[in-house]
Amino acid sequence: MIILSIETSCDETGVAVVEDGRRIVSNVVASQTVHEKTGGIVPEVAAREHLRQLDPILREALARARMDLRDVDAVAATVGPGLIGALLVGATYARGLALASGKPFIGVNHLEGHVYANWLYEGDVAPPEPVLPAVVLVVSGAHSDLVLMEDHRSFRLLGRTIDDAAGEAYDKVARLLGLGFPGGPLIEKAARDGDSRSYALPKGETGARYDVSFSGLKTAVLRLERELEGRGRVPVPDVAASFQRTINEMLAERVARAAAEFDVRTVMLGGGVAANLALREEIQRRVSLPLRVPPPKLCIDNGAMIGAAGYFSLKHRGSGIPTLVRSHMPLARA
Ligand code: KG4
Ligand code: ZN
Repeated sequence: MIILSIETSCDETGVAVVEDGRRIVSNVVASQTVHEKTGGIVPEVAAREHLRQLDPILREALARARMDLRDVDAVAATVGPGLIGALLVGATYARGLALASGKPFIGVNHLEGHVYANWLYEGDVAPPEPVLPAVVLVVSGAHSDLVLMEDHRSFRLLGRTIDDAAGEAYDKVARLLGLGFPGGPLIEKAARDGDSRSYALPKGETGARYDVSFSGLKTAVLRLERELEGRGRVPVPDVAASFQRTINEMLAERVARAAAEFDVRTVMLGGGVAANLALREEIQRRVSLPLRVPPPKLCIDNGAMIGAAGYFSLKHRGSGIPTLVRSHMPLARA
């Protein structure tokens, strides 16, 4: 089954062609750079950029796949969670395509997309599918959810952030250190030249077994930065490395705890922050189960992950397929 899939929930415009939920036939992503100037995403600007980009990106995705709409069996698009204007542009566009070509439309939860990115592959040889049940950590610019994936599309919430998302913490600390936007990759790069043991930062316990809180850590970095500035010089790589180690340890500790507590076969990561190589290493050090992480370009938002999740939505309709566009759409219930 060939799915044409569209992602516009935030600041990446993505269109992909995916076969049987796993093989990437084409995957074109345009990251909006207009937000670098504002140091953060302006929703209205993001929506307009999606509108401007969708036509050329769709054409390119189909051209790279050497297909046209007639070759497609269904059209999928993210319907939430995300920026409402941005979501509406992509979902409405996809619905229009589906209607005009007489193909079914599949609404996809963006967070399921991040999970199903672990099923994708490029090339001719299919790697084995992740074995379920699994502990899954979805860490993005807006979410930090630790879930138990009992079966396809069956998620139980174990813990989440009680304040900022992990990616948001990366972005805010990067801004504080004058590194730019989006912050995650810039912190990771700066941290390579730093000593992660330079500064001890607080890990902000929440009291709940699997929840996390990053606001204390963020404030501690702010205080540290001011103090260092007062002393004349901020060793940015050392601060970045110390922050990265602390936040990654917080996430890895919870993943390892869940992997030990529940009888699972696999640990999976997803979402933009999962592109962080130090996070993978930190988790790998603590768990002996197979760890599945999509390659970095499939961790950040893209159309292919929506095609994968769309396919498995059709195959496992049990938990329903969302159709209405919503800015709030949880991955799992407690
Ligand atoms: O999943 P994603 O592309 O978009 C959302 O659904 O939010 O995640 C974007 C987030 C941003 O906060 C970005 O700073 C972070 O993922 N990110 C990273 C890395 N690459 C992207 N965080 C840490 N290390 C990275 N290498
Ligand atoms: Zn995302």
